[in-house]
Amino acid sequence: MQPGRLGWKKNGVCVLLAGILVLGAAGCGEKNGDETKITPSVQPEITEPAPQPTEPAEPTRAAAAEPTEPVKEVRTNFYVSTLDEEIPSLSEAWKDYFSVGIALTANDLRNELKEELILQQFNSMTCGNEMKADALLDRNCPVLSFKSCDGMLQFCMEHGIKMRGHTLVWHSQVPEWFFMEGYSNQKDAVFVSREVMLERMENYIRQVMEYVNTTYPGVVYAWDVVNEAIAPGDGDPDGMRVEDSLWYQVIGADFVDKAFEYARKYADPEQKLFYNDFNTYEPAKRLAIVKLANRIKEQGNIDGIGMQSHIGMSYPSLDDFETALCKFSETGLEVHITELDINLDSNTEEDLMKEGKRYKRLFFLLKNLMDNNKANVTNVTLWGLTDDGSWLNKDGKRYPLLFNQLLETKPAFWGALLDDGIPLY
Ligand code: XIL
Repeated sequence: MQPGRLGWKKNGVCVLLAGILVLGAAGCGEKNGDETKITPSVQPEITEPAPQPTEPAEPTRAAAAEPTEPVKEVRTNFYVSTLDEEIPSLSEAWKDYFSVGIALTANDLRNELKEELILQQFNSMTCGNEMKADALLDRNCPVLSFKSCDGMLQFCMEHGIKMRGHTLVWHSQVPEWFFMEGYSNQKDAVFVSREVMLERMENYIRQVMEYVNTTYPGVVYAWDVVNEAIAPGDGDPDGMRVEDSLWYQVIGADFVDKAFEYARKYADPEQKLFYNDFNTYEPAKRLAIVKLANRIKEQGNIDGIGMQSHIGMSYPSLDDFETALCKFSETGLEVHITELDINLDSNTEEDLMKEGKRYKRLFFLLKNLMDNNKANVTNVTLWGLTDDGSWLNKDGKRYPLLFNQLLETKPAFWGALLDDGIPLY
């Protein structure tokens, strides 16, 4: 391929012209959108008139290689203020592959600037906390309160965004009193029987689904029915989480089957039912999830597997990620990447670029696997909008997402778009 020549730079984009690579001192490597001044090259003064050719000269090689049209644009500025400039839309870019989602908190929607960015970028939403049992249950059980998530559901309905319902049955963020006789929150409280707990589970799933589906019809397209039920090493023969799961302890290992049975019973027919978990690429966990998913699939009650994908800068390897994605897809179920973030703990330009490359490699992998019918990914959701709002950011030093706290794009954003400016390696 003919090397390109850097022609001009507009809004941090270098326009590559066919020709020879000439990198002037102005360069194109600056960050933060500085306009690069291109100084016209100084022409030698012509003192004598050039001899006129008698016949039209044959175009020389050099002349033939002169640039005529811009052929390719390569971005060099990855920190674009989304308040000042238009940027490409992720959901638009990936529309032939999967929907692109965002996990939000109710607070994110109180900020008009964020709201605008969300509407431009995403076509799927997940409530970060607002639809979990501890947000919906109050001790006047069995009456549920949906104040926490009403605004987000309303926003989705108004703007035609689809929601992943997250999450119905999870060992975490569910009050202990929900499992106790008389909903007691006392120290000496005792667990209800399996039968009572199954009734409570069914009632809970029914009420959540009925409320959401009647008040906001058509908004929720997928439910995380059960979250994080697998934890190999806890002593269960099928790798179920035992120690910290009251669902397991009160109902038994089949609480997952029951949850999916109830969910199918009350879900709208077009809603997809998902099993969702983290570290799904760990071999023992992967195998246990496939086994579980196949069992529930035989019962006709599951449509997809959610790979949370809270990943690090080097762990897991993308080979392991690929293996899990392919194995899950081989079950015939859909796969959602439900909670993607990369736990980067540095914000040097070099590390942010490395993060951008990792995002690019991941999206590149998804695309390749889908192009080759090896994966059936129907949604990719980022677990948060801006770094400062990430759940990982307890120490204020995490940079896991696509936008920074100034609502600027990061290299990660361009990586997720497979932008040419981000190298794959
Ligand atoms: C997280 C939220 O983002 C935090 O705000 C909260 O404190 C803890 O839970 N797996 C899940 C998500 O399924 O619901 C979790 O969300 C992150 C891990």
